[in-house]
Amino acid sequence: MNDDNITLIRERYRALSEISQVINSYKEIDPLLTKIMDIAVETLSAERGFLVFSDNKKDGYELQVARNISRETIDDLAQASSSIIKSVVTDNRPVLTHDAQVDPRFSGAESVILQQINSVACVPLNLRGQTLGAIYLDSRLDRERFNQETLEFLLAFANQAAIAIENARYYEALLEENRQLQSEVQRLHAFDEIIGSSPRMQDVFSIMGRIMHSDITVLLEGESGTGKELVARALHYNGRRKDRPFVAQFCGNLAESLLESELFGHKKGSFTGAINDKKGLFEYADGGTFFLDEISEISPQIQAKLLRVLQDGEIRRVGETETRKVNVRIISATNHDLFEEVKKGNFREDLFYRLNVIRTKMPPLRERHGDIPLLVKHFLKKFALKQGEKVKKISREALRVLENFQWPGNVRELENCIERAIVLSNGPEILPEDLMIPQADIENGKRKTLKEIEKDIVLRILKEEGENKTRTAEVLGVSLRWLHYKLNEWGEGKKGKSDGN
Ligand SMILES: Nc1ncnc2c1ncn2[C@@H]1O[C@H](COP(=O)(O)OP(=O)(O)O)[C@@H](O)[C@H]1O
Ligand SMILES: [Mg+2]
Repeated sequence: MNDDNITLIRERYRALSEISQVINSYKEIDPLLTKIMDIAVETLSAERGFLVFSDNKKDGYELQVARNISRETIDDLAQASSSIIKSVVTDNRPVLTHDAQVDPRFSGAESVILQQINSVACVPLNLRGQTLGAIYLDSRLDRERFNQETLEFLLAFANQAAIAIENARYYEALLEENRQLQSEVQRLHAFDEIIGSSPRMQDVFSIMGRIMHSDITVLLEGESGTGKELVARALHYNGRRKDRPFVAQFCGNLAESLLESELFGHKKGSFTGAINDKKGLFEYADGGTFFLDEISEISPQIQAKLLRVLQDGEIRRVGETETRKVNVRIISATNHDLFEEVKKGNFREDLFYRLNVIRTKMPPLRERHGDIPLLVKHFLKKFALKQGEKVKKISREALRVLENFQWPGNVRELENCIERAIVLSNGPEILPEDLMIPQADIENGKRKTLKEIEKDIVLRILKEEGENKTRTAEVLGVSLRWLHYKLNEWGEGKKGKSDGN
């Protein structure tokens, strides 16, 4: 082997190892393709080159990047060599020619002559038996520029390049998906997704507006389903940490050791079942916001560790001695009065003050009945959008039922009720029976008018007295005439037995 040959082989190895490194370093597709063509043209001393992707919709391929070819000639050249490229792409086989001008595989011969192409090497970008595209190299000067050995090198090179291209495509698809999810998440957590025009909710909005751009620690109090988590997310996704994680952890009725290892992580072997080192959620939330739900439930030991996070920004994994730094904003929630828990000795006072820098109480739904129509409209729209269906209306009677109900489960319960009603209702309008709120519950929660109460009582006694009007009138202490009059007014005139008296 002479020195020239050795140099040549060395160069080829270098090119192959370079392309392997490229696989790991170029994540985006455009710079990657440029780099691939640079290495190919340079290593094979080709004069020009381009790279195409297979494309089922177009002519079978689409030009991606070219080297040393002017804009004017690229179309000509692509045209002239199109049957070669097509055959490489469809047959997944390389092509080598030493005299393009007489090679019958060149369809646009005229153009080839015009451009005086001599040597051509074209190889598929092959990935698991599929052709992603092809690399084309040519030379107008030198008839012997490419040979079988060139082609073999180029094939090996193209195989590596194909892997890199696939990785970059995945990467870009992930980036795109991530961008879409991100904007979806931000849309879902816009402030105007939190519904409420009642004064109580206006107070909440006013506080949120003032603390939105700060990192201040927030304690949200309120019954379950009043929107505490919704507010926590809105604060995160509208604040300056929005591009970092929002992590929520429910702290109620969880075994202490489980919660501790969830929050802070653990070292391998620190307890049975700790088969690996595990990162805690606080580490995942670094730079972002941590939402601690049902904070009043946490044990004294975890309270102490949490205080450490708030005071020094430090955590310690279970079973480790060294500490780690974390930077998290803490928003916590409870459906108890946390200060009451402090007074009862269940919750550390120092931790309470750290958590309670800003306190907001979410009003229960029964104290803001005025917001119900707005909420109902919001949920009708939300679920229609989710199902891709037309937005249903709600009948006046159904809305009245909703407005009169006490909602022990607050907005969450209302939301579930609407979702169910949409499914149950047959027509374009939701009726009271679609709501599935038991009659007894409606009556308990209803603030009835005197007239309604009167009617309820009269009809109930009538029923109890076996529809006997005379006895009913006696029991009620009213005249039979009055009873007849009322029954007619309510459209119940036919009711009851005419007992002849
Ligand atoms: N003011 C509101 N506007 C719109 N949806 C709300 C509102 N409050 C609560 N919700 C919805 O009700 C459900 C329960 O809210 P969530 O924030 O989880 O309550 P909590 O954390 O207080 O238990 C969620 O689906 C939430 O989107
Ligand atoms: Mg909750």
